[in-house]
Amino acid sequence: MTKTIDMKALVLAGGKGTRLRPLTYTGAKQLVPIANRPILSYVFDNIADADIKEVGVIISPETGEEIKAVMGDGSFWGLNITYILQAEPKGLAHAVLTGRRFLGNSPFVMYLGDNLIGCRISDFVKTFRSSRVDAMILLKPVDNPSAFGVAEVDEAGKILGLEEKPVEPRSNLALVGVYIFSKAIHKAIDKIRPSNRGELEITDAVQRLIEMKRPVKSFILDTWWLDTGKKDDLLAANTVVLDEWFKRSLSGAIDDSSTITGRVTVEDGAMIKNSTLRGPIVVGNGAVVEDSFIGPFTSVGPGAVIRRSIIEHSVILAGAEITGISRLEDSLIGRNAKVVKCLHKHEALRLMIGDDSVVEV
Ligand code: DAU
Repeated sequence: MTKTIDMKALVLAGGKGTRLRPLTYTGAKQLVPIANRPILSYVFDNIADADIKEVGVIISPETGEEIKAVMGDGSFWGLNITYILQAEPKGLAHAVLTGRRFLGNSPFVMYLGDNLIGCRISDFVKTFRSSRVDAMILLKPVDNPSAFGVAEVDEAGKILGLEEKPVEPRSNLALVGVYIFSKAIHKAIDKIRPSNRGELEITDAVQRLIEMKRPVKSFILDTWWLDTGKKDDLLAANTVVLDEWFKRSLSGAIDDSSTITGRVTVEDGAMIKNSTLRGPIVVGNGAVVEDSFIGPFTSVGPGAVIRRSIIEHSVILAGAEITGISRLEDSLIGRNAKVVKCLHKHEALRLMIGDDSVVEV
């Protein structure tokens, strides 16, 4: 009897992390919280759910230590995590090359650490295990295919070709950041050269597999998918995750003059005084909400303070302070940032804003 080799996972959490400026000047974009949990937590949830135990996490010299400190050894998920340092962000296929010793001959799920998808990957993994293909890729129709890897497929769904960020895309089907490969991908990676942007592209490696006549299967994802690299995507991810995955759970201190409606999570150590919270909302550990209204699709990070304000559809990160703001919507407020209505001076905006910030008044 032939022994099946266990499937592993390779999570890509290295890279430059420059697209979520200014939030990621100091932090890894894969740690940006969605509903108060780092994006990587959802990635690990999904890998653990597919019954994969051995997980390699690609990290960079700039943000790797922070990722290790926040995510730990994986025991929270029952995972065994090996951190693998990629000295430079030379592309997704280069990350696989860097993880080659960890991967050995195992088939593996490659999961981009800044991607969130609205479904489990377990069915996808089961299909791979039973179908003897060398690669499985997930596709999703998008409005702006030039920003992604793009697949051209025939009417029967067979992949004809793949291109990374084409100027003139041949379809609207983008490659979603979850792939499954057999060991055959390593040979394909050995045959590719850096692209115009100087990276070893996994898209080119899959294209090579196709040219080598190896079986490559594609699936069209029928749930949502968010590449969390941009502000609007982040707010959208926050909305979807709060809406679909959060339950009502009130562990913090809530006084009698507060009203809590719907799926609201108030974490242990949070304090709600004389306020109305209308879910879905999450309020993190140690946060204080006082004399305020918090409307749907808002995350209040750990230690944040909201006073005399009305907030809706916003992400307030850890330690931020919002005071006296009559209405804040569709906003992303960084760690320890302050938005304060000043009552003492003549009416004027007094701002200290980081590079690449946007203020709409
Ligand atoms: O999000 C889906 C898209 O992801 C696909 O449609 C594209 O085909 C694929 O190339 C990729 O494009 P991006 O330009 O969005 O990749 P990004 O540079 O954002 O990297 C994705 C993740 O991989 C991110 O968590 C950082 C990590 N990474 C990236 C590079 C270039 C590494 O760990 N090492 C690297 O060398």
